[in-house]
Amino acid sequence: MTERVAIIGAGPSGLAQMRAFQSAAAKGQDIPEIVCFERQDDWGGLWNYTWRTGLDEYGEPVHGSMYRYLWSNGPKEGLEFADYTFTEHFGRTIASYPPREVLFDYIKGRVEKAGVRDWIKFRTPVRWVEHNDANGRFRIVAHDLVADQEISEEFDHVVVASGHFSTPNVPEFEGFETFNGRVLHAHDFRDALEFKDKDILLIGTSYSAEDIGSQCWKYGCKSVTVSHRTAPMGYNWPDNWKEVPLLQKVEKNTAYFKDGTTAEVDAIILCTGYMHHFPFMAHNLRLQTANRLATADLYKGVVWAHNPKVHYLGMQDQWYTFNMFDAQAWYARDVMLGKINVPSTADMLADVDARVTAEDAIEDDYGCIKYQGDYVRELIAETDYPSFDVDASDEAFYQWKGHKKANIMTFRDNGYVSPMTGDLAPPHHTKWVDALDDSMKSYLQT
Ligand SMILES: Cc1cc2nc3c(=O)[nH]c(=O)nc-3n(C[C@H](O)[C@H](O)[C@H](O)COP(=O)(O)OP(=O)(O)OC[C@H]3O[C@@H](n4cnc5c(N)ncnc54)[C@H](O)[C@@H]3O)c2cc1C
Ligand SMILES: NC(=O)c1ccc[n+]([C@@H]2O[C@H](COP(=O)([O-])OP(=O)(O)OC[C@H]3O[C@@H](n4cnc5c(N)ncnc54)[C@H](OP(=O)(O)O)[C@@H]3O)[C@@H](O)[C@H]2O)c1
Repeated sequence: MTERVAIIGAGPSGLAQMRAFQSAAAKGQDIPEIVCFERQDDWGGLWNYTWRTGLDEYGEPVHGSMYRYLWSNGPKEGLEFADYTFTEHFGRTIASYPPREVLFDYIKGRVEKAGVRDWIKFRTPVRWVEHNDANGRFRIVAHDLVADQEISEEFDHVVVASGHFSTPNVPEFEGFETFNGRVLHAHDFRDALEFKDKDILLIGTSYSAEDIGSQCWKYGCKSVTVSHRTAPMGYNWPDNWKEVPLLQKVEKNTAYFKDGTTAEVDAIILCTGYMHHFPFMAHNLRLQTANRLATADLYKGVVWAHNPKVHYLGMQDQWYTFNMFDAQAWYARDVMLGKINVPSTADMLADVDARVTAEDAIEDDYGCIKYQGDYVRELIAETDYPSFDVDASDEAFYQWKGHKKANIMTFRDNGYVSPMTGDLAPPHHTKWVDALDDSMKSYLQT
């Protein structure tokens, strides 16, 4: 086969795409030439931790949004690979909320076994992707940062796997320019110890706010104030934690909220989410979507409806992660291999509309989990990705929601049943709140 596939990004989604093709090759199928362009110097995407913020040593925007001491925010039983279980990787069952380094190791284990690293051009950000109407191929311009050389090549298919939790959404509030402390976005947060003994204000009520606040609390900040635009998170927070309506302005170190209350704060962390940002895609190929379960313009949540030779992986808001990226990657692979035929553009857009309508009818988070679980099930039924008990994954997520409601500072002490092996995860040797060392060495101690 002489076709060429470009994959943009070697995070969990891009790696899933490589593993999908490699597994087909391992079964004796003819596969196209695969070239993966990766801006960073290693694979793993967000799970490849960097201390850097802002620009890197080449002047590139730092991709990393992860921080020290981050543990999985959902049970690992919801993200397990069906073709490479935790038990296979670690040689035994492990607890349900692994810290970042442990999950990074797990992600790497599968692709090291698959032997696909040579397909990746590291330190090579993609600058531009456009369709060549004359020959139906795509021209990709990338930059080899180490050699400082431009690369311009043609491909038959493009898989965009560049993630969407790296370009921060940064609102401004009155008085920021004269605030007497640090204002940062969650993207630039790295170490909770920076805020030890400080009064911190967080804006936003989603996972970053919940977890960065919890980290800072765990590592000894003086108080946490969380300001919400829509609604408070409503967990049973510790005594030195409060939830307040939206910030109106700051004057020196005083923050003023919509309900007339005030707080003295040392630092403000904007946990205000991220933008889907693809400046390297020509406008007629560029995904523009909100962070939701049913993305705009992607047939089956994967295929760019306006040109089905372009695929986007992992662009949904995420309950399911690694095994959803797998389901998408296997599906995209089979579209590229011609095993799955996509319908007309009109029919693909009708599929998108139907998904949007179904998502709009969901009543609560439990419904969202089921919706995304059903989506994963739908895709894996169409390929040879190993079938797994999606209901068991949904169940792990439902239990996780209940455990968070019961106690937001102890939910990570629970264990769940693997949908792949049926094993119940053992408890971790130390309660999350007392486990200050998040290294893999510490986590894997028995
Ligand atoms: C702070 C934080 C914590 C999270 N915690 C969890 C968690 O506990 N559990 C969970 O399941 N999920 C978590 N997530 C969700 C996360 O999105 C997924 O786990 C996963 O990393 C997404 O994989 P991805 O490959 O789609 O994107 P990413 O991991 O973002 O990887 C994208 C890759 O593309 C590369 N890239 C980007 N642009 C270019 C370009 N122009 N050219 C070349 N390469 C490019 C990047 O360098 C990167 O390596 C978290 C996200 C954040 C921000
Ligand atoms: N492993 C972990 O523990 C961990 C930690 C952090 C993040 N994550 C992951 O990272 C991803 C992103 O999470 P996220 O919390 O950063 O983003 P997010 O889920 O998109 O949430 C963004 C939040 O910002 C608020 N917001 C946006 N604009 C605002 C404005 N102008 N003023 C006030 N509030 C505003 C939103 O409020 P509204 O509700 O009002 O819109 C929402 O609460 C998730 O997939 C999550 O799982 C994981």
